Amino acid sequence: MLKVGIDIGGTKIAGGVVDQDGRILEKVRVDTPADTRALADAVIDMARHFGAGHDVAAVGVAAAGFIDRDRATVIHAPNIAWRNEPLKATLEAGLEVPIAIENDANAAGWAEFRFGAGRDVDNMVMLTMGTGVGGAIVLDGELFRGGHGIAAELGHTRFTRDGLRCGCGQNGCLEQYASGRALQREANAIADAGGIGAALADLRTETGTISGPAVSRLVLAGDPGATEALRRVATALGEACGGFQAVLDPELFVIGGGVAQLGEDLLAPVRLAYETSLPGYGDRPVAEFAIAQLVNDAGLIGAADLAGREV
Ligand code: BGC
Ligand code: NA
Ligand code: ZN
Repeated sequence: MLKVGIDIGGTKIAGGVVDQDGRILEKVRVDTPADTRALADAVIDMARHFGAGHDVAAVGVAAAGFIDRDRATVIHAPNIAWRNEPLKATLEAGLEVPIAIENDANAAGWAEFRFGAGRDVDNMVMLTMGTGVGGAIVLDGELFRGGHGIAAELGHTRFTRDGLRCGCGQNGCLEQYASGRALQREANAIADAGGIGAALADLRTETGTISGPAVSRLVLAGDPGATEALRRVATALGEACGGFQAVLDPELFVIGGGVAQLGEDLLAPVRLAYETSLPGYGDRPVAEFAIAQLVNDAGLIGAADLAGREV
């Protein structure tokens, strides 16, 4: 049975036709329109395109927001202008197949659990480090959705009191300290302060601000300022994982999103912070940490796999 998965990202919409083993048979990417109507039309066009060439049983759409239990409405989106947005109804008006809306991180986490880094465990937590910090919780082989469908918003757990303002309306959320944006902010702060990171400072003089991908390149090149910025962000994530371990006791944390492309450079300081904040460390079993394997395709694969399933 073939299904379509469509992952609405901040800059790109990625869609694909996915088989029951999580393999992508055809893939398309377009820019994300800024206007929400144009965005819905782009998703409809993409699904129609796939429907013309394949026998599609269902369409799953991954979006960066709090999705209700009916998998129909975006209740809230910290970084997009969606407030109680009836996304499923809008898409249904243009399509004949069954549609399910998924939280983007839940979709990515599910894909990693079924077909990627988490396929050998039953209890897994995924964190995505991109514009925001997304979360997915798989417990005893099931995606945990909570009472209202919006569990696993791990990026919006309070990391520090009186902290930075967050798009969700709160302050001090983990997202403000462990996202790709946070990495960029830390790198720019280090460059501002001078001293460490000559390469960071040079880049800053050329371009005004340092982009996230540029910070990643400098980390890989061993720039001390960029490495320090990464250490701060990784430490925030690792400390939070110590708390998630206390609540959920997963066997595995899978880290995805743009920052995860840094691989072991990211995981080493994450593990260190996790271990130093884990209750009962030294006596208790600890979780493994792994980088996501399906990279940019996880969201669309997971959304496709979850579409048409009972939840
Ligand atoms: C949103 C989540 C989303 C995550 C990653 C967060 O700000 O609250 O719903 O999964 O960003 O896109
Ligand atoms: Na989630
Ligand atoms: Zn928040």
